[in-house]
Amino acid sequence: MNSRPSFDRSALLEQAREAMRSAYAPYSRFPVGAALLTEDGRVFTGCNVENAAYPLSMCAERVAIGKAVSEGATRFVAIAVTAERIRPVTPCGACRQVLAEFGEMAVVLDQPDGTWDLAVADLLPHGFSAASLEEV
Ligand code: THU
Repeated sequence: MNSRPSFDRSALLEQAREAMRSAYAPYSRFPVGAALLTEDGRVFTGCNVENAAYPLSMCAERVAIGKAVSEGATRFVAIAVTAERIRPVTPCGACRQVLAEFGEMAVVLDQPDGTWDLAVADLLPHGFSAASLEEV
């Protein structure tokens, strides 16, 4: 049984594409955009934000999560992700871990011929979580 709210995948992806226009990616020249839908219907977008000290760069997904959490939102329905140069682009390992922190949500990836829907559990099976901490 699936009680997850339904949502408009193309509209969410369109917001991710719009966010990608703000990407600050002068080093990789690999713009990425994300749009995160909350259970109460808000959308927080993100783009990648790079830095001359390369490891400090932030991915679009984590920027969106940070914006949402800082505005009090922690319950999410879906995140849409797009990239200018490769579609689909799949979230990096660090972003998978951060998405998993907030439980199950749909991960909607942009493809030239539609969308590819995944669950966080598909992206990060056997991940480390709060439950793991309780087992020690
Ligand atoms: N990047 C993202 O923002 N999200 C992804 O899912 C993959 C990678 C960014 C990080 C870096 O700014 C650029 O893409 C190249 O790795």
